[in-house]
Amino acid sequence: MSAAVSVDAVFVGRAYLGGRFEEVAVAVEGDTIAAVTKPALAPRGEETVVLGPKQLLLPGMVDLHVHMREPGLEHKEDWRSGSMSAAKGGVTCVFDMPNNVPPANTCDRLREKVAKAFSKSIVDFGLYAGCSDEPETLKPCADLFFGFKLYPEDLYSPRARPTFKLAAELGKPVFVHAEDPSLFRDSPLHSEARPPEAEASAVELALELARSTGAWLHLTHVSTKPALERVLASKALGKVTFDVTPHHMLLSDSLYRSPLAKIAKVNPPLRSEEHRAAVYAAARSGAADALVTDHAPHALAEKLSENPPPGFPGLELALHLLLKEVLEGRLPPSAIDLYSSKPARLAGLRKGVIAPGFDADLVIVELAEWSVKGSELVSKAKYTPFEGWTMRTKTVATYVRGRCVYRDGGFGEGGARA
Ligand code: DOR
Ligand code: ZN
Repeated sequence: MSAAVSVDAVFVGRAYLGGRFEEVAVAVEGDTIAAVTKPALAPRGEETVVLGPKQLLLPGMVDLHVHMREPGLEHKEDWRSGSMSAAKGGVTCVFDMPNNVPPANTCDRLREKVAKAFSKSIVDFGLYAGCSDEPETLKPCADLFFGFKLYPEDLYSPRARPTFKLAAELGKPVFVHAEDPSLFRDSPLHSEARPPEAEASAVELALELARSTGAWLHLTHVSTKPALERVLASKALGKVTFDVTPHHMLLSDSLYRSPLAKIAKVNPPLRSEEHRAAVYAAARSGAADALVTDHAPHALAEKLSENPPPGFPGLELALHLLLKEVLEGRLPPSAIDLYSSKPARLAGLRKGVIAPGFDADLVIVELAEWSVKGSELVSKAKYTPFEGWTMRTKTVATYVRGRCVYRDGGFGEGGARA
């Protein structure tokens, strides 16, 4: 007699299977999804997790743009607090930006960062390499980073073209923060200090660098209507991808005239309603290649100072903001792909999809109404421009490659993989 088929774990409930929700059983063997079946046909699991009637099973989210701040700025965030923030937000894989102190733009510093993240992160991670005067020196450790990141000051420096050339040679993306500093103005209003034209101008330069070198250009946090139109028109001409953020989709520059002005300061700035609506439309139509948080934590005292640094935390809220839009009927369910399957595919990962052969990165969310309070975030940055927003879902549990890293307010060890 043959033994009954058995797997490590089976999740039974309503699951997101690419564009739609379906009642299924998801079988997990080791760190991989082994099968997705009708509940009645599920194999026996060592552990069985039966979802409640108000619960949904989602793939783990993949965030291509975060700042974990370690090494160098651990008072703002570190790999432990930042990855806890991710796990609580249903994010199972983060890609960390190189603007550390010192910047992650040499092989030694990238190796050091991988070691740190390995020992402390409870979610999986990838890294970007920063720009340097000698990009070629990054060749021997090319397997340590997913892509390059150029800030406005890099884009307008002699370092830009060699970085694009090397990226083309290595087949890696160049993530660009597109703003032209020569168009910045003196204004007490942040959105006027860094006007929309600065983004349009920098997008032109980035597109020219990509066209002339053959590199894959990824424009991150695109925030204005003309830039979106230009990027969409350029997609046919070469490998050009872009992402948008929840804050540019959902918030506008009216916040700069409110008590949240300092908290809401971010680069690129929040824009007028016309631009906000265009960013939202790029997400709704599926034109955007990804949603990213640009999780950019700073100490609260820094944010409340005379000249606050730009950025705020995003990892704990992004998925639930997205689900709020879906549940309230403004976005189709397929918008979930923007924060899961689409970024995973860009990064070449078997993640972000509930299907056999993919990593068993799973998130259980529950329908529940709650009010956002910055002071309750697990990030070291305990504030948010979404203060007081009513959410429709909360994270119950998060699994990274089959291991539970978050459940009901408590955190597991995880054990990250780069
Ligand atoms: O708002 C931002 N914060 N924009 C950036 O370009 C950098 C980031 C940070 O690292 O704080
Ligand atoms: Zn950033």
